[in-house]
Amino acid sequence: MASRIVGTGRAVPATALSNKDLEGRLDTSDEWIKSRTGISKRYVLRSGESLVEVAAQASRQALDRAGLKSGDLDAIVVGTVSSDYAFPSFGCQLQHALGMDTIPAFDVAAACSGFIYALSVADSGMVAGNWSRVLVLGADALSTMVDWSDRRTAVLFGDGAGAAVLVSEPGRRGVLATLLRSSGASWDLLAVRARGIQTTADAEVQRASEDSIRMRGPELFKIAVKSMAEVTRQVAERAGVSLADIALIIPHQANIRIIDAVADRLGVDNGKVFVNIDRYGNTSAASVPIALDEALEANRIHDNDLVLLNACGGGLTWGASILRW
Ligand code: ACO
Repeated sequence: MASRIVGTGRAVPATALSNKDLEGRLDTSDEWIKSRTGISKRYVLRSGESLVEVAAQASRQALDRAGLKSGDLDAIVVGTVSSDYAFPSFGCQLQHALGMDTIPAFDVAAACSGFIYALSVADSGMVAGNWSRVLVLGADALSTMVDWSDRRTAVLFGDGAGAAVLVSEPGRRGVLATLLRSSGASWDLLAVRARGIQTTADAEVQRASEDSIRMRGPELFKIAVKSMAEVTRQVAERAGVSLADIALIIPHQANIRIIDAVADRLGVDNGKVFVNIDRYGNTSAASVPIALDEALEANRIHDNDLVLLNACGGGLTWGASILRW
């Protein structure tokens, strides 16, 4: 049996913040942000808005496209570090928003690698025979965790959610292999202290800087390139496929220069790499499933194509997954 994605969905908050908007509040420029990161705009939650609602919207779209109802699901696994509550989990809040009950719903915390970790957990449970239909999400709102006076981090992140419905079925299509990696030794390259109450870009009272995202950008940049390239090669080897046979790579959208450098190291043509960072910024765990949903909509993926997902983020965590579509 294989676990195959049969429906995807995405959603972002209604408020878009362009680089020009940020020029008004930070000592930065559209030119700096575009040339150093590839980002033009990002979507951010406003005070009173809920990421759970955004995630529910993405989930309903994925269920619709899968031709399933929420009552058909056996489990919900959410890659997120953005729950408003330490408990209940984001998964339980989402389950309630979808009007469901009793099936297991839980979170996997792996920052920007969250979707790949959640996909792997879902796939393992399905291969073990525990579940047949699973809703997997990546949902994050890191804009609510930045110090809005710190130009080194505030320009990078956006909010959103991406969803995928997986079903177990016989055959060779679906998840072929996944590799997960972590390095707690490098935890302080990208970190934010746990804090229940979040702030938003438009909030009057802002987060204290010591409670905001701290990041050692240049070091992280180098590790992200090395680790994403390495785990991509390894997962291809594990799946017994050549990188040349991959139809499309969907990388975590952290920085266009990281994406290009990884493709360069792997000797992969840029045309085979899906990029949408210009319109979303870094949406953390949501970035891979949002990009996957857009790639499908743009007809960049066809039946039987080999699709590779990879990501790296706080933890540090990184990982990659190969799917036959
Ligand atoms: N606007 C204008 N100037 C800025 C800005 C900004 N938004 N941000 C930083 N600068 C300045 C710095 O203050 C510095 O000025 P100084 O030399 O006078 O001190 C100068 O630009 C260069 O700063 P660096 O940090 O060296 O810039 P760099 O080229 O490394 O780019 C960046 C910074 C974009 C953060 C890059 O290091 C990066 O992308 N790192 C990876 C981090 C990342 O992607 N994190 C997301 C989560 S982890 C992940 O998803 C993989």
